[in-house]
Amino acid sequence: MNFLDELKNLKEQVKSENKLNIDFDFDNIVISGMGGSGIIGSIFQEFYSEKPVIPISDYGIPSFVNDKTLFIAVSFSGNTEETLNNVSEAKEKNAHIIAITSGGKLAEEVEDHIIIPAGMQPRSALGNMLMPLLNTFIKPGEESINSTYEALDSMDRDHSEMKAEAFKIYGNSYIPVIYGSRPFKSVAYRWKTQFNENAKTFAFYSYFPELNHNDTMPLKSAYRRDEYIFYVFESDNNRINRRIAVTQEITGEQFNIVHTPVTDPVAKLFYLIHYADYITYELALIRNVDPTDVSTIEELKKKLS
Ligand code: F6R
Repeated sequence: MNFLDELKNLKEQVKSENKLNIDFDFDNIVISGMGGSGIIGSIFQEFYSEKPVIPISDYGIPSFVNDKTLFIAVSFSGNTEETLNNVSEAKEKNAHIIAITSGGKLAEEVEDHIIIPAGMQPRSALGNMLMPLLNTFIKPGEESINSTYEALDSMDRDHSEMKAEAFKIYGNSYIPVIYGSRPFKSVAYRWKTQFNENAKTFAFYSYFPELNHNDTMPLKSAYRRDEYIFYVFESDNNRINRRIAVTQEITGEQFNIVHTPVTDPVAKLFYLIHYADYITYELALIRNVDPTDVSTIEELKKKLS
């Protein structure tokens, strides 16, 4: 699959009916994963609040993990060191472990696993890795899935708006800064990582209201402030929208507001994710770098293995 086909595959992934098989009681959920797989835990945490959810993109699990913990290991390759390390620790604590992976050591080590299709970049398999969690705990209905599919499909047919953003970034040598807000704080982080991995550029992120307590200072008077471009996600929360408006008013910065032309929360989530897929893909092409290439990350993993 070439990278554009990987992007276009996202809409098919949201139709996945995979679910976790849960026939036990649990008090908390710990989700371990790195990079393109790790983002699944933080996205899910913003959508589900019935029980504590702790996403981990690091070595080590919390000391509260025990036989009442649902421990979900997400690794596209199934060979990510930090995730495998955490699975061993979770086993020692008798946690209920479920893996979401395309194979690798993780599939061998965790009996209860969901196998997702290989043959694409981990970051392009976001739908395949996230849907089992949403299907199990959020249960989006047919209408929600259809509206998500349609939103993604229309972007796949025409992404000229995102291409124009890529040209704007390149033409002005901008450094992207992305500001999210709940339940899309982790989507702002996903944008950052897509800029990093697809376009091979630095990007930064934060979220409202927290950034009103720090980033607001350089917004007003940053050194080399003209070198940054600010993307801010439209919100459904009036207080957040008020903050966005007042922040612009007092700092003089004109944010690029990313509108979400859909109402369903799952459709919004995937729309925002896909928006950055296309900006970063186009930016890679303009810069003449391969959006698929993550060879430096792979080299590093090899050296450490
Ligand atoms: C994303 C990517 C990386 C990996 C990360 C973890 O496309 O290449 O961010 O997701 O290195 O590897 P996996 O996902 O195989 O556990």
